[in-house]
Amino acid sequence: MKDTMKIYKAHLIFTPERSRFEVMENGYIAVENGRVQAVASNLAQLGATEADVTDFGDCLLIPAMNDMHVHAPQYRNLGLAMDLELLPWLDNYTFPEESKFADTAYAERMYRRFVYDLWRQGTMRAVCFATVHLESTRLLMRLFQEAGMGAWVGKVNMNRNCPEALCESVEDAASGIEALVSEFADKDALVRPIVTPRFVPSCTPDMLRMCGQMAQRYGLPVQSHLSENTGEIAWVRELEPESRSYGDAYNRYGLFGQTPTIMAHCVWTDGEELELMQRNGVMVAHCPTSNLNLSSGMAPIRTFLEKGIRVGLGSDISAGHSLSLFRTMVYAIQVSKMHFQRDHSKPFLTLSEAFWLATKSAGSFFGQVGSFEPGYEFDALVIDDHDLNHDNYSLAERLERFIYLGDDRQIVRRFCRGREIHLA
Ligand code: GUN
Ligand code: FE
Repeated sequence: MKDTMKIYKAHLIFTPERSRFEVMENGYIAVENGRVQAVASNLAQLGATEADVTDFGDCLLIPAMNDMHVHAPQYRNLGLAMDLELLPWLDNYTFPEESKFADTAYAERMYRRFVYDLWRQGTMRAVCFATVHLESTRLLMRLFQEAGMGAWVGKVNMNRNCPEALCESVEDAASGIEALVSEFADKDALVRPIVTPRFVPSCTPDMLRMCGQMAQRYGLPVQSHLSENTGEIAWVRELEPESRSYGDAYNRYGLFGQTPTIMAHCVWTDGEELELMQRNGVMVAHCPTSNLNLSSGMAPIRTFLEKGIRVGLGSDISAGHSLSLFRTMVYAIQVSKMHFQRDHSKPFLTLSEAFWLATKSAGSFFGQVGSFEPGYEFDALVIDDHDLNHDNYSLAERLERFIYLGDDRQIVRRFCRGREIHLA
């Protein structure tokens, strides 16, 4: 066995396919250069001996969580302000909070807590919105680097229908993107910039066009919001009368799958917009807690999956009230059950499907992430669930109980790209 290889022993559970858990009791996983080399049920298969093994005993070892949509600067508002729908919620609670991030000392205080809390909840990779402020966005990226966790981070772009303090010129927005592109230039790095027009109502056609050009020029991915709320959709129709759908308004400016693209919500997506997403390979960040709290609606996740549209889960704090993707999985399943009651042709999500959404499916936006198949980056959580495991539960039942009943207290070790991540 090579010195650079590490072998871990535990009960391995992961989802190579969305329809089922792969469960390996007392399995071994060999990791080299940050990637899974092999999974085996005995050491001889790995050419190793007991002395080489880090033994996690009776713990579960699962892939770490990937949050596909999260607003770092809304961390202070977590658990607050759930009495309005999207548009007045943005004006009354969200924009005032984001305005504070002009102050980098404030940003550092909040962003440190945010990154720590992501880590605590077992999320090793995230696709983040920051704010329009370049300095504090850079700071958030540095904090992720310092932690050793993975993130696509967007300096938000917005120049209409927002308070003065959050409004920037198209020129400043362009130079902000370029500054981050040159500073975070390593394409293999864990922390990378992503083009982030907030949503169509916040961006003039010039701003959207510039964003599309930047994505194209620098080969950057794109994230935004799509078809979250019926009032928002009606407003986009007024603002972009030439577009055939809300999604088409992004598509016209090169922001809809021309480079890898994530659209959050897609609660009301159907018809031509759905076809365009499918054709362009646009990925959905499903944010069930947010959609419940802002009374946005129930996203048609089964339809997306049937059409082969990629989907991941997003906490979308602070519209979502929890950073835990385990909590988010449960809500995703519960919302899909309500949806099923309205439309019996759409079976609700199973546990393995929800787990797959937060691991392998979401992980695909980061490369080979979210599974324990050979070649995948080793992003993993060690779950010590002895406090929940008071009877003879099977391994699959133990994972189910952890997802439904557990929290960060059972997450005892965390790995990202092969490295153990210690914060605290
Ligand atoms: N649409 C535009 N901005 C936001 C935001 O910050 N949160 C949510 N949920 N939707 C948005
Ligand atoms: Fe959002």
